[in-house]
Amino acid sequence: MFEKITVVGAGHVGATTAQGIARLHLAREVVMVDVAEGIPMGKGLDMYQSTPIEGFDTRIIGSNGYEETDGSQLVVITAGLPRKPGMSRDDLLNTNADIVRQVSGQVKRTSPDAIIIMVSNPLDVMAYVAKDVTGFPRERVIGMAGVLDTARYRTFLSMEMDVSVEDIQALVLGGHGDTMVPLVSMTTVSGIPVSHFIEAGRLDEIIERTRKGGAEIVGYLKTGSAYYAPAAATAQMVEAIVLDKKRILPCAAWLEGEYGQSGIFLGVPCKLGRNGLEEIIEVDLTSDERAALERSADSVRELMGALS
Ligand code: 2OP
Repeated sequence: MFEKITVVGAGHVGATTAQGIARLHLAREVVMVDVAEGIPMGKGLDMYQSTPIEGFDTRIIGSNGYEETDGSQLVVITAGLPRKPGMSRDDLLNTNADIVRQVSGQVKRTSPDAIIIMVSNPLDVMAYVAKDVTGFPRERVIGMAGVLDTARYRTFLSMEMDVSVEDIQALVLGGHGDTMVPLVSMTTVSGIPVSHFIEAGRLDEIIERTRKGGAEIVGYLKTGSAYYAPAAATAQMVEAIVLDKKRILPCAAWLEGEYGQSGIFLGVPCKLGRNGLEEIIEVDLTSDERAALERSADSVRELMGALS
């Protein structure tokens, strides 16, 4: 268990993530920070009051400032505006970059040894902003999203095949956007290739639905974006780090030559443990998958170029 974990942003994603972290007994204290007056304190106190019923001893503190977060071992950043219908994740670029710059400066000042998990969109570029502002090594700045995108893909596959989600293994790599790369060559059901169960044309449709998975939910919610699955994905990454599980999860990592890419955050299989990003696993991709990953990297790079 960590002593203190901070979640920046007390919106739906942040608050649900804080609750997930507390439920998994991952920290003695969870601090939720948000600029919105009253909101983090109100949600924090409400969550704290659930602890006698839920049965965890985590102290949940809400704050409008960073002093309470001092010395956090892990900081999840969810701050930023969510998408509205018709907006792409990329439309949020410069608004959220300003927010993430400010937050990252505060994290560097108050929790200089923290591991950062970036959740704000556009995810891959926001992870870069945090790394740039804090100067933290790549082991300590990791982007969420591969776990979320893979969960969506596994869910859709499970719906299609009527088999347990637990038995579906898959990896979605690349940027967290419409160019993400679900790896068909690594999609199996208890080790059996997915092609045994689903014909290629139908699988393409499922992949397309996965790519648009976030937008599908924005379309329903109208005033916000998904939060249950994003928060669950983030809590799973936090758990892997806090419990030093050495899990292999798809995450956005700063690449230094892996997969032929450098100077960019991109979703790749990562080993997560107590030190954060402990290893990037380079797997052989088919030529189509490699080309798709390159296209995805190009689109992340283009967005980085649009940062003001
Ligand atoms: C999602 O995919 C908002 O990026 C987030 O739902």
